[in-house]
Amino acid sequence: MFKPTVARQAVRALNRATRPAALAATPRQALANTFLRPLSTTAPRAQKDDKNAKAPEGTAEDQEGRYARTDETVKIEYPDDANMPRTPVVQGRGGMHFKRTLAQFSLENKVTLVTGGARGLGLVMSQAIVASGSDLAIVDLNKEEAEDQAKKLVEQFQKENPGLEELPNVTAHYADVANPDSVNNALADVISKHGRIDHLVTSAGFTENFDAISYPYDRMQKLWGVNVDGTYLFATGVAKHLMERKVPGSIVMIGSMSGAIVNVPQPQAPYNAAKAAVRHLASSLAVEWAGHDIRVNCISPGYMLTALTRKILDENPDLRDKWISLIPVGKMGVPEDLMGAVTFLLSDASKYITGADLRVDGGYTLT
Ligand SMILES: NC(=O)c1ccc[n+]([C@@H]2O[C@H](COP(=O)([O-])OP(=O)(O)OC[C@H]3O[C@@H](n4cnc5c(N)ncnc54)[C@H](O)[C@@H]3O)[C@@H](O)[C@H]2O)c1
Repeated sequence: MFKPTVARQAVRALNRATRPAALAATPRQALANTFLRPLSTTAPRAQKDDKNAKAPEGTAEDQEGRYARTDETVKIEYPDDANMPRTPVVQGRGGMHFKRTLAQFSLENKVTLVTGGARGLGLVMSQAIVASGSDLAIVDLNKEEAEDQAKKLVEQFQKENPGLEELPNVTAHYADVANPDSVNNALADVISKHGRIDHLVTSAGFTENFDAISYPYDRMQKLWGVNVDGTYLFATGVAKHLMERKVPGSIVMIGSMSGAIVNVPQPQAPYNAAKAAVRHLASSLAVEWAGHDIRVNCISPGYMLTALTRKILDENPDLRDKWISLIPVGKMGVPEDLMGAVTFLLSDASKYITGADLRVDGGYTLT
């Protein structure tokens, strides 16, 4: 079985140069330069001997635009599966409450399937879906963790809704989303446990960093297989099921801001292209299935602090500073920031919205 986290690389170096904000060519560069502490422990060549000296022509420090470029020396190390941090259940966000709100946001009497729901963003969105009234099927490569988290979601729901007799039905299922047979088996399994599927969220996905020239071809195919094929296979499988039942449904694909911009400094061309494909798949299928009352939308998160990204950035504070310096709101998002977005797009509150790309990125893609 493929382990997306195995054999990834170590952070060796980050941006080499610093540059006065006044010399920045764009507001984003100015912002980055103002807040960025030097990412290198080695002084830039031009500054080593003489602070006023200009960088020698033709060197990396001399190139205009270098702050907006990827740097192939930046390598991000991802933990292997055994050391993958677990996602804690969100506390105090759900439950019956007595604040007036629109009934349209409720997901009561729905069955929602979430791929990649055992961890990270998928798990937190799953919790929002359960809190909003839906039953839930978590589908993941890691069935054991999915089972454990399914139990925890119900326990948390019970804690937040004391006295409520009917508990949500939350189940866990295995699938490798990149494998058509595995996807079909999982869909059949979910339907046998829940009787039907009404909504889908595709969150299974991963990123990794190699410069394009050295990207191992088999890994690139795997990355596209999980991020693109996995989204396509689940979307078409659920849409077919909805069409057979002649009922409406809502599909939310988790893309990324990387589908619209190019992240710096870490190189990740195949991931960026995969997420652009996810975004446009949502638009294309929205049109194709509009006549069947099946809505398809995309959520494009920016940099989110999951258990995994938190671990990576704790180990690489320079990278965290660089990322944050490029976010207009000045901080990374948290998975809870997606709870309202996914509930909105699945629910009747967004009944006339299809083919949209909802960016939850703190303004990153605006500058
Ligand atoms: N975390 C971020 O900052 C961020 C930002 C933008 C977009 N995203 C996207 O959000 C989605 C979720 O990311 P995350 O940060 O929660 O990642 P994560 O690694 O924490 O969780 C991903 C989940 O998907 C599962 N998965 C991976 N490959 C699978 C496969 N082949 N079949 C079935 N399940 C599989 C994993 O087991 C895991 O439970 C991804 O599509 C990612 O690209 C994340």
